[in-house]
Amino acid sequence: MLMMRHFRMRAIKCPRTALPLLYPSSQNANRKKWHHIHSSAVTSYPRCELTSVRYNVDRGKFSQVCQEDIDFFINLLDRHRVVLEESDLEGHNTDWLGMVRGASSVLLKPRNTEEVSAVMNYCNQRTLAVCPQGGNTGLVGGSVPVFDEIIISTSLMNEVENVDKLSGVVTCQSGCVLETLDQHVAEYGLMIPLDLGAKGSCHIGGNVSTNAGGLRVVRYGGLHGSVLGVEAVLASGEVINCMSAMKKDNTGYDLKHLFIGSEGTLGIVTKVAISCPPRPKAVNLAFLGLQTFEDVLHTFREAKAKLGEILSSCEFIDRSSMECVELNLKLRAPIDPHPFYMLIETSGSNSDHDEEKLNMFLEESLGSGQVSDGTVATEPSRMLYIWSIRERIAEALIHEGYTYKYDISLPHKDFYRIVENMKDRLGDSVIRCCGYGHIGDGNLHLNIVSKEFQRDIVNLIEPTVFEWTAEVSGSISAEHGLGFKKRNYMHFSKSSNAIKLMKQMKMLMDPKGILNPYKVLPEM
Ligand code: FAD
Ligand code: MLT
Ligand code: ZN
Repeated sequence: MLMMRHFRMRAIKCPRTALPLLYPSSQNANRKKWHHIHSSAVTSYPRCELTSVRYNVDRGKFSQVCQEDIDFFINLLDRHRVVLEESDLEGHNTDWLGMVRGASSVLLKPRNTEEVSAVMNYCNQRTLAVCPQGGNTGLVGGSVPVFDEIIISTSLMNEVENVDKLSGVVTCQSGCVLETLDQHVAEYGLMIPLDLGAKGSCHIGGNVSTNAGGLRVVRYGGLHGSVLGVEAVLASGEVINCMSAMKKDNTGYDLKHLFIGSEGTLGIVTKVAISCPPRPKAVNLAFLGLQTFEDVLHTFREAKAKLGEILSSCEFIDRSSMECVELNLKLRAPIDPHPFYMLIETSGSNSDHDEEKLNMFLEESLGSGQVSDGTVATEPSRMLYIWSIRERIAEALIHEGYTYKYDISLPHKDFYRIVENMKDRLGDSVIRCCGYGHIGDGNLHLNIVSKEFQRDIVNLIEPTVFEWTAEVSGSISAEHGLGFKKRNYMHFSKSSNAIKLMKQMKMLMDPKGILNPYKVLPEM
């Protein structure tokens, strides 16, 4: 077995775009530092083609920003919170993947709900389109403008208002960085029930707006369950206060759910209240090697049955994904090469009890031959190292070129079939076709890489991958959302009546369509 290297938190820039950090050097994710790195990276910035050109989009009938508008914003926010310099804007105009690029000339940094409200009221009157932006780690092109939409950044809205020790509910502004918020509630013995590779950069408001899933849904469920309250500003500037901190509240339509996962198209989330579970005292992480995908499915079933309430994560990596991490990030798998790998995490309150349960499960899995090799980590630095292998696959892939990303929900029996089908279909035309993801939730990340973006390759993958997903009754977006990239495929997962009602809701809440246009809802 290989020796574990110690993994330390450090700054990582996207190799392609030199954009946000996944693991800021400061655990407190000092925003000034983040911005410093963000803007200093701009000089070597590789420009991808403008979204509007690559995808041949027509600009909506919105006004264009004029000097009078700039004067209004400066008067409202001060000059330093109105970003106009092209070099400072470039990182905010391009997404983390380097896949889409807009051409906004203004970014605003409100500090509170009142300022967001005043900005929206003004933009609505002037019919100026806006693009809400959190940490800009979104993977479907929703977080950056398509044309010249004004970017409204939540980066200065990062105050934690309250942590209720008894109920475990945290109330905060939407610009809190996920990792920083988690460290804050840790002081109260709590944890944010959401964890993902982008935690060092993504904002809680971005997480709520995308209904982010991540690594622990199998244990804590999704954000529709743990978000108790949302405050949001509508296109008109009106503030909708649904900030209940109560677990139970059956008074009428539960409007907060409209903002969870609507990707900035129905309102700007300004505050959230989240129910936090107790921070587990005992955590173990097993890294397993398996020979067949059947073995992966058996092991998942057994893990659920035998680990029960202490199972907190169940992740999957195929050989090609692992190879990519090893090649490009120089991280080493802690066991010899296998066709498939799994990460199984347990979290609980009694380490003896949890270890005994996990060891028994592993002994039986190894004994039956379902698992052919494995290692267990209990020491934090060792666990971080193993987690970094899984969490940094997205980053490893962009070292090799352009990533075509598919994030689909599938019945477990069909989970890996599409990776194999795509490999056969694409052959040597691509550098890599691999699969990894949250197998505990039936969520596959199918990723394909070619040196550069090629329309021919897109045409080989789409709509086949969406048609196939619909045939097996899956979802074409499990956790990343639809954003700009997937919006025209919504019909593969939603009925025409459901789409019609969504369009009516959009019309009601944002009649001029100024909130994140060209995103989520299909063009037709
Ligand atoms: P942004 O990228 O800035 O915005 C995302 C969308 O939300 C955009 O449409 C934007 O307009 C809107 N938005 C942002 N803030 C607000 C607001 N306050 N009000 C209204 N709308 C808003 N996602 C997962 O679900 N699971 C994962 O495991 C996961 N892992 C990732 C790993 C890596 C390495 C990376 C780069 C991304 C990963 N993602 C994952 C995707 C991404 O991190 C999530 O979608 C995240 O929730 C986005 O948060 P953000 O603050 O960066 O939002
Ligand atoms: C993950 O689970 O690693 C993220 O969703 C990012 C990705 O899909 O690559
Ligand atoms: Zn994921």
